[in-house]
Amino acid sequence: MTDFTGKVALVTGAASGIGAAITARLHAAGASVLLADVDAERLRTAVADVTRAGDVEAACAAAVEEFGGLDLVFNVAGAARLGTVLDGGEDDWRATVDLVLGGTYLGIRYGGRAIRATGRGGAIVNVSSLNAHVPLYGGSSYAAGKAGVEMLTKNAALELARHGIRVNAVLPGLVRTPLTAGWFDGGPIERDFAARILAGRPAEPDELAGPAVFLAGPDASYVNGTSLVVDGGWEITNYPDISAAVEA
Ligand SMILES: NC(=O)c1ccc[n+]([C@@H]2O[C@H](COP(=O)([O-])OP(=O)(O)OC[C@H]3O[C@@H](n4cnc5c(N)ncnc54)[C@H](O)[C@@H]3O)[C@@H](O)[C@H]2O)c1
Repeated sequence: MTDFTGKVALVTGAASGIGAAITARLHAAGASVLLADVDAERLRTAVADVTRAGDVEAACAAAVEEFGGLDLVFNVAGAARLGTVLDGGEDDWRATVDLVLGGTYLGIRYGGRAIRATGRGGAIVNVSSLNAHVPLYGGSSYAAGKAGVEMLTKNAALELARHGIRVNAVLPGLVRTPLTAGWFDGGPIERDFAARILAGRPAEPDELAGPAVFLAGPDASYVNGTSLVVDGGWEITNYPDISAAVEA
């Protein structure tokens, strides 16, 4: 495991799921971590809403004040208010885009400024989604927002490189977290997912934390502005299984 001793990280969405798994890995690797989330009950550190610039700026300032600087930012906070394009709520659409895309923008903006101020460079990892590439029924706001995160990642990489800051994205497929818990009831949706995912199962949060932490670390020193799809081979199954015909 990479040694992150002496590194300071900010993780948004740290109270649950993928953010909690990233935080656990960073702690195990010796980093100091400022945890930011709206869930005050499950999180006893910084309570920050990533859609509010003041909260994100304050969380970055807290990391600098508490740990003496900022090196790494993980923009993980996210959720979706589903609704179809024709009949879903317009406020729900805006709120979801504001959270997944706007929240990531604020994390890059204020986190990037704090890293720049140290003068020693760093890395930012944004959690996008396979839905940046694959649409989700009722999830146009989420999918469009996550696609935006992928391009925002590239644009930020272009602009922040001069400060020694790399910016990359992770695109998870299906991960077993509270966000997706409603799908794991043994019913047809769960079975349909399993049939499409080559791994035959959803990921555990730590299986996303590993790639995310890799992108932030020295082993990824030459990786910049890219997207790492971590989906158990789901994206490539959008074709019927023709293996029987090929092998006949
Ligand atoms: N679980 C999946 O299958 C999956 C797939 C693709 C992408 N993702 C993405 O991964 C990220 C983490 O999701 P997860 O599955 O761990 O979900 P989760 O619900 O377990 O964790 C998300 C965390 O974000 C926090 N959060 C929500 N809104 C916030 C806000 N405005 N400010 C600060 N914190 C806020 C929540 O309180 C929660 O602790 C999200 O961006 C999600 O879109 C998840």
